[in-house]
Amino acid sequence: MATKACLIVSLWISCLLATSHATTFSSLQRTIVLTASPQAGQVLKAGEDNITLTWSLNTTFPSGTDSTYKDVTVELCYAPISQKDRGWRKTVDELAKDKTCQHNIVKKPYTSSNITFTWTVRKDVPGATYFVRAYALDSAGKKVAFGQTTDAHKTTNLFEVEAVTGRHVSLDIASVCFSAFSIFSLFGFFFMDKRKGKSSK
Ligand SMILES: *[C@@H]1O[C@H](CO)[C@@H](O)[C@H](O)[C@H]1NC(C)=O
Ligand SMILES: *[C@@H]1O[C@H](CO)[C@@H](O)[C@H](O)[C@H]1NC(C)=O
Ligand SMILES: *[C@@H]1O[C@H](CO)[C@@H](O)[C@H](O)[C@H]1NC(C)=O
Repeated sequence: MATKACLIVSLWISCLLATSHATTFSSLQRTIVLTASPQAGQVLKAGEDNITLTWSLNTTFPSGTDSTYKDVTVELCYAPISQKDRGWRKTVDELAKDKTCQHNIVKKPYTSSNITFTWTVRKDVPGATYFVRAYALDSAGKKVAFGQTTDAHKTTNLFEVEAVTGRHVSLDIASVCFSAFSIFSLFGFFFMDKRKGKSSK
């Protein structure tokens, strides 16, 4: 009973924290140079094919830009071409609310020199068109800069992922609904518990 109450309070606090540190994508500088191995239009098989990524600091930027960088996180992001009729996946400037980059690839400590990493496209990645984005994080984990393999309009160098048979993007909606459902049922149990407690007095 106490643990349930505790869980609900911590969920609530983490929601509050997530919204109080609003960082917008448009406020970030593109100081990270990021390249990925797939050719434009290449089709990769989820669970099989590999992406080789390289990132480093753009050294032609004014010096000192990277003094606050602590880590780099690299993410697989949906390209707008697959967003045509999916309003729920529209790009939102506030990063905490943006659903563009939903698949974490890797997080590594930041260095200004080239880092190379090879990633096998995970089995659960839905079939769609993608690009890769890297964020520089400060010591508080806040996104402070970025780099991506496509242009600002997200139209160049896109590649596709072919899903493991049967897996479709709509499963993502199902999982969002499911997590909302879990939170609601948690509340449900909490109140049922409370009632039970009262009636047995
Ligand atoms: C991807 O990398 C893994 C591990 O490094 C390797 O076993 C696999 O053969 C690679 N896949 C392809 C399609 O090259
Ligand atoms: C690095 O930054 C400079 C200055 O903003 C820019 O002109 C150049 O295109 C960038 N290089 C890369 C590879 O992104
Ligand atoms: C990273 O690699 C690119 C090309 O592969 C090279 O031009 C650049 O100098 C390298 N940067 C660093 C900081 O080593």
